[in-house]
Amino acid sequence: EDKISQLTEDIKRLKKERNAIILAHVYQRPEVQEVADIIGDSLELSRRAATTDADVIVFCGVHFMAESAAILSPDKVILLPEENAGCPMADMVTAEELFIKKKEMPEAIVVAYVNTSAEVKAESDICCTSANAVKIVQSIPEDKPIIFIPDKNLGAYVANKTARPMTLWEGWCNTHDWVTTEEVMKAKETYPEALVLIHPECRPEVVALADYVSSTTGLIKFAKESSAKKFIIGTEAGILHQLYKQCPGKEFYLATKRLVCPNMKATTLDKVKEALDNMQPQITVAADIREKALACLDRMLAVQ
Ligand code: 13P
Ligand code: SF4
Repeated sequence: EDKISQLTEDIKRLKKERNAIILAHVYQRPEVQEVADIIGDSLELSRRAATTDADVIVFCGVHFMAESAAILSPDKVILLPEENAGCPMADMVTAEELFIKKKEMPEAIVVAYVNTSAEVKAESDICCTSANAVKIVQSIPEDKPIIFIPDKNLGAYVANKTARPMTLWEGWCNTHDWVTTEEVMKAKETYPEALVLIHPECRPEVVALADYVSSTTGLIKFAKESSAKKFIIGTEAGILHQLYKQCPGKEFYLATKRLVCPNMKATTLDKVKEALDNMQPQITVAADIREKALACLDRMLAVQ
């Protein structure tokens, strides 16, 4: 406790000295979320990274998120407190592999989930997050074939919602793809009156059991506004901190205890402080890649 409050104080002081802003994804540890200026889903964090007037952005999340911030705000210092916090799903597609696929389907529009590297974004046409994927796909002319990378589960969800056939990449999130229908059914038996809230990175058969499907922020909003009191949660455990904070008197049950992303948990308060102290590790993107990747992110941000 004492250590946490000391670190929190140090971080607040350093943040002022550096004119820094701390962005945290909702999957971060509770104490990290508590020092953040902005907590949100991938889309909100991208928007904030693009518009902040701070000199330094401390990104408490995973590598592709900090990289997106570097693409959107090239004049700022972008710090990723734990440099090794990656996203295994983002690593499931490389620029070379995508290049080969594009050769096979030269007319196709490539929709890249933001969970991709800058190099992959540079080879793609438009980005999306789980919050806007349906809208992004709907914004593409109907006669154009679509390659959706890298999440086959989100891709299947969007294809279903939009009734647009898409070529799906063979990628997935280990954390969400692990959730089974048996686990959700068991949770429903235990809490029969609970509503089931599922992230679209889960498998289609798990998504089919949901009362509501959305990005992390979308799920929090739904829980807040719903008249229900109990919810089964099919997304990463870090979201529970915001759910309990924002929905007093309501109860939340994780669909399975395995809903933990080790990469999201790699960032600690110690590391946030060290990052601000040393102004390291910094995330940068080479200018040629950055320019192309920015076009891909900008096209997404332009779709309302
Ligand atoms: P959202 O917060 O955009 O729903 O993203 C989920 C995720 O898995 C990020 O890594
Ligand atoms: Fe990647 Fe899944 Fe972790 Fe998000 S929760 S960072 S998609 S592995």
